[in-house]
Amino acid sequence: MNTASGSGGAARNSGRTARIPGGAARVFGGVARTLDGAVLTTDDVLDGVDLTGRTALVTGATSGLGAETARALAAAGATVVLAARDFDAAVIRACRIRELHPRADLDVIGLDLTDQSSVRAAAGMLALRRSGIDLLINNAGVMYPPLTRVAGGLELQFATNHLGHFLLTAELLPVLAATAARTGIPARVITVSSDAHRAYPIDLDDLQFVERPYDKFAAYAQSKAANVLMTVEVQRRMAGAPVAAYAVHPGICVTGLARFMSRDDFDRMRRLTVRTPGILTNPKSTEQAAATSVWAATAAELDRHPGAYLTDCAVGRAAEHATDPDAAGELWDLSTRLTTRR
Ligand SMILES: NC(=O)c1ccc[n+]([C@@H]2O[C@H](COP(=O)([O-])OP(=O)(O)OC[C@H]3O[C@@H](n4cnc5c(N)ncnc54)[C@H](OP(=O)(O)O)[C@@H]3O)[C@@H](O)[C@H]2O)c1
Repeated sequence: MNTASGSGGAARNSGRTARIPGGAARVFGGVARTLDGAVLTTDDVLDGVDLTGRTALVTGATSGLGAETARALAAAGATVVLAARDFDAAVIRACRIRELHPRADLDVIGLDLTDQSSVRAAAGMLALRRSGIDLLINNAGVMYPPLTRVAGGLELQFATNHLGHFLLTAELLPVLAATAARTGIPARVITVSSDAHRAYPIDLDDLQFVERPYDKFAAYAQSKAANVLMTVEVQRRMAGAPVAAYAVHPGICVTGLARFMSRDDFDRMRRLTVRTPGILTNPKSTEQAAATSVWAATAAELDRHPGAYLTDCAVGRAAEHATDPDAAGELWDLSTRLTTRR
């Protein structure tokens, strides 16, 4: 079994043919591409896929990868709920998707991941949906802000990227399981992480940067490691249930995510990515970067790889510090404590 806990490996996929829904694609050095060698897009992945009757919730659906993920899933027939803290922006995004795909079945829900009452309210509303939820796509994120503390003194990147999604996932797991039991089709939890998790370890003793100086790169990396650890733990908890979890590295793509980055930050990022030349100068389009999320949501062969870390529409391998089952359990317990109502 290839899981995020480590036994997979993009390198081991080299030269194999990946079965992409709607058509075969070759895997070159671990990277799935179309038969003529182009990087796969969302539409390549979903070509021929019919998601009618399935409901997907996408967080951070107002812009970037979330907007493209929502568009692509809706174009394939899914009912898509766009979750966003900026409700008006989500309505505008839904209107744009409807212009492109007049038959798109769309809904909008307010969700501020840094506000636990907002997350609980959204989850409560979603639990009332008659159609249930088949696909939860934890996509929203923030990167490299200056030190910012939200309610409870939580550091912003941890609160947004991990803890808000943790609470949403924990609240919706029973809904996902019930939906899968009713439809007979397994539900999936997809959490958008990043290869940036490799750069720095997660410090479970000081998640909020109280004991150590705040480092925006380390804080982003640990929040993205937390995304993978949550995937490992959700999979362990859902063993035997018709719910699978996947973590995704989308690749580099120019989006609003870089809004907090200074010139020095770009220099630091260049130094951190020196072993992967071209990765910053040759970014993916949003359609290419969101392809792995929609692949995670739909690829049939992933039923054999529950808990996997996915990149470039193939099973990859996350860093060991992000896949340690004991750390995954400990983070789950800490996150439960941090989201328990007082
Ligand atoms: N782009 C890349 O190169 C790259 C690489 C690796 C991983 N990723 C991951 O991909 C995901 C999507 O990023 P992106 O590149 O598409 O960035 P983006 O365009 O900045 O989109 C981020 C989304 O998250 C939302 N968001 C931020 N804080 C939120 C909160 N408190 N509550 C609810 N929603 C919130 C944003 O809403 P607002 O519009 O209201 O701010 C926006 O819709 C992130 O998890 C990111 O870490 C991206």
